[in-house]
Amino acid sequence: MIFIDLKDRTGILQLVIDPKKIPEADGLNLQDCISVKGIVQERPQNQKNPDLPTGEVELNVTKLTILSRSKTPPFVVEEEIKASEELRLKYRYLDLRRLTMQRIIIMRHQIVNAIREYLNSRDFIEIETPILTRSMPEGARDYLVPSRLYPGKFYALAQSPQMYKQLLMVAGFERYYQIARCMRDEDPRHDRQPEFTQLDLEMSFVTEEDIYTVIEGLFQYIFKKVINQDLKIPFPRLTFEEAITKYGTDKPDISFGMEISDLTRTLKNINFPPFTGKEKICGIIVSGAKSISRKHIDNFNEEAKKEGFGGIYWLRKEGGLSGSLSKYIDEGIIDKIGLKEGELLLVCAGDRKIYYFLGELRLSIGDLLNLRGKGYHFLWVYDFPLFEIDEKTGKINPCHHPFTQPKPEDIHLLDTEPLKVRGRQYDLVLNGNEIASGSIRNHDRSLQERIFEILGVDRETAAKKFGLLLEALDYGAPPHGGIAPGIERIVMLLAGVKSIRDVIAFPKTTQAQGLLENIPDFVEPEQLKELHLKIE
Ligand code: AMO
Repeated sequence: MIFIDLKDRTGILQLVIDPKKIPEADGLNLQDCISVKGIVQERPQNQKNPDLPTGEVELNVTKLTILSRSKTPPFVVEEEIKASEELRLKYRYLDLRRLTMQRIIIMRHQIVNAIREYLNSRDFIEIETPILTRSMPEGARDYLVPSRLYPGKFYALAQSPQMYKQLLMVAGFERYYQIARCMRDEDPRHDRQPEFTQLDLEMSFVTEEDIYTVIEGLFQYIFKKVINQDLKIPFPRLTFEEAITKYGTDKPDISFGMEISDLTRTLKNINFPPFTGKEKICGIIVSGAKSISRKHIDNFNEEAKKEGFGGIYWLRKEGGLSGSLSKYIDEGIIDKIGLKEGELLLVCAGDRKIYYFLGELRLSIGDLLNLRGKGYHFLWVYDFPLFEIDEKTGKINPCHHPFTQPKPEDIHLLDTEPLKVRGRQYDLVLNGNEIASGSIRNHDRSLQERIFEILGVDRETAAKKFGLLLEALDYGAPPHGGIAPGIERIVMLLAGVKSIRDVIAFPKTTQAQGLLENIPDFVEPEQLKELHLKIE
């Protein structure tokens, strides 16, 4: 008897074939494509496989047709894959035959399907917008497409449908969404792709609360539908300021505690020279800190020095007190700080930047003690600053994009202290990842023009680049706002995979190459000529 694992996208079925009756079964290779007919029968008791959904049965084959032969594949197509990622991406169609990959791609389909069901049932309209467009300000470099008909002119590939969705609100569609492809020529990062997909959404006559409600309901629906989990809503919320001062980041992982405490008042007068005159003295308390060794602390100290702070100062309470702060801190202060037996206090002093450093430290310790990422911890972060300073150029930039509305109560600061103005921006964060970002927009032309001015976009440039939007705002534009969750990030989290490439059927490498298509590639001189281009 010959036993064969027959695989299709639903799983595996064991075939039993008698080679005397079906001799061609003898020459079958792995990955051949076959069609069989037969009788489903119960497996003998000792051959049942409880780990396989079809493990109780097998197909006793009466007819076999070989539809197509396979060469020996360049790697073994198996679930516990040993092949390099390069090889997997080059032969992606073979890699995608693995049930692990099929499960993820099918889950992606289910998620998008759930999104459509939910939004369609709430009167949203799905509308496609152009991919070939003009440069839109999402902060990344554009991919450009040279025009054949207009020498020297270019289209830009859409970085997002931002401008179009605002125009659709002006056009009166009121509730729009789109599963939108976005193209951005960004510097490579592990969770970014040059080509990715957003659920792009916009609504008229809304406040932040309406957006939160729609999105919370949507995620609740997706989680129930796709992984049968009940998600608790509403999600907790933190202002940007709270996120930074408690977690040292605008995308906190709140799946574990260990928040940053401001110890400035408590520690500034303890006569410890590194604290003297420092603007901020902050720390984190690590519980169950036994496995944080002296060597770990020395490493943290080195890191702090590299970042330009004096170092990490510490105090361990175990039996007695030990650490660089032990001589300077008495029981009264320990009570104030709330340090308990078995805990370790790590302190850093400096300016506001220590929050970011302690935020990173908190995450590394979370990893070290294996505290991170258990369950799904959603969080809204809001009240972002409207502008930020680009550290490299010193230029003032929008924190989100230039269409975000300033908070009405901060508008009076626009001209005098623009960096203090908060925007009506909100991010949705899940276990430390930003999965969506959005804002209430400027529907008033003069306010939008003021923002451009502060950003240093002169009137002429504003008219040239954003004229179409500014003009549209002149024709009774409704108040509107929206948001865009990244589809890949949602799939990664639900499928529990770490690499963004695993949730895209045909992804690019981190170096923005397509190994399957061998792109980017040179083109024929004739094509360049037609496009009026010369390569230097
Ligand atoms: P933003 O640029 O913040 O906002 O993008 C929204 C969400 O899209 C995802 N995302 C990405 N995913 C994979 N690869 C990338 N290169 C990438 N870049 C972004 C993230 C992010 O939260 N038009 C605005 C939205 C709005 O204001 O409505 C926008 O595009 O999950």
